[in-house]
Amino acid sequence: MPDVYNPQLGREQPYPYEHREEERDYHWGMVINTNRCINCNTCSFACKSTWTSGEGEEYMWWMNVETEPYGGYPMGWDMKLLPELDEDETIFEAADSGEQAKGYIAAKQEWEYPALGDDQVHGEYPTGETVESDLENDEYHDIWQFYLPRLCNHCKNPACLAGCPRQAIYKREEDGIVLLDQERCRGYRRCVKACPYHKPMYNPETGITEKPVGCYPRIEEGNVPRCVSSCIGKTRLHGNINRGPDAGHAGGKRSAADGRSPINYLVHSDEKVALPLYPQFGTQPQVFYMPPYHVPPEFLTQMFTPNTEQKRNDWPGSTYEESIRIVQERARDPSHHVLGILQLFGATTRLIETYTVKENKVKGWDQNGEKVVDMPIYEDIEVREGEQWTNQ
Ligand code: SF4
Ligand code: F3S
Repeated sequence: MPDVYNPQLGREQPYPYEHREEERDYHWGMVINTNRCINCNTCSFACKSTWTSGEGEEYMWWMNVETEPYGGYPMGWDMKLLPELDEDETIFEAADSGEQAKGYIAAKQEWEYPALGDDQVHGEYPTGETVESDLENDEYHDIWQFYLPRLCNHCKNPACLAGCPRQAIYKREEDGIVLLDQERCRGYRRCVKACPYHKPMYNPETGITEKPVGCYPRIEEGNVPRCVSSCIGKTRLHGNINRGPDAGHAGGKRSAADGRSPINYLVHSDEKVALPLYPQFGTQPQVFYMPPYHVPPEFLTQMFTPNTEQKRNDWPGSTYEESIRIVQERARDPSHHVLGILQLFGATTRLIETYTVKENKVKGWDQNGEKVVDMPIYEDIEVREGEQWTNQ
């Protein structure tokens, strides 16, 4: 296998196909603020009714929301794979002979309960009593859970693509979306086994596998995916993750204004506030999460950092756990700039390519250079004249 550079791990790693993903002008990406998710599953149903409502697709939830730490779809998907990997070993390095990646096919019953573990909390829950939290003295809650929306990451090192011997899975040149060609697929299910996030799903009625499509028809028209536009909690921002600070003004589609994309700032600036899920798998996932700020950092460390002995120097803090504390604090008490970007979440169904935060204003432009958001960061509060309501 050739080596490719993985910036999430800060090192080269083996991957079956050579590529230079960081040099693409455009790559599909998403940031999800877990602190705003209320597990309403509007995203899950919007996705299902759009893409997987047919025969044989009954258990296909391309978009699902699971409660951490006990939920998971398929059941226990992460806890089954993590112990199979040695420290500092990606799924490609841990592959058994004749395979491209370490993985497993979840059993039928593991797909049957998408909501198992929902709302189950971690920690002793004194039933029948009032739960008191002493946040003055304890920084984090003893009793906790949080919601983790999960979807295909349109990885830069897609394990599904690596696994398919028919080369039925491909990554689109124009936006990095990973698609499965159903004409080529013969139902070998090597992709189902290889994807550590379990997003390619086999259709027993057709004998063909299906995988999430990144809502590509909407992306092609400059709109955000259905899970993003339908989210009532305004948890998500979608855009071009590869558009960094040096992107210039060239005019026309996808380069209509100077500057970086808002999601690139949240993920790649010095003010890193959104993290990939299980980067140690080595697939370079392109969905990034603002971590919940009430959850103990030792749990989040294994979920959102490379979690190796050797800490990378582009992470803040002296250990990964310390880094998580810093990122949690940034999410809890955002800078003015991050607060400005947070106003863009759910503000428009148009795909925001570039943005500015200036004084009390945040503005966003689409790929054609049209302004699609222009709003204050802090709203003025009007106090009405006259008699104040009182219950005295
Ligand atoms: Fe493929 Fe899985 Fe990555 Fe999606 S999350 S691109 S299905 S490896
Ligand atoms: Fe390939 Fe997966 Fe189909 S391995 S043949 S895309 S089931």
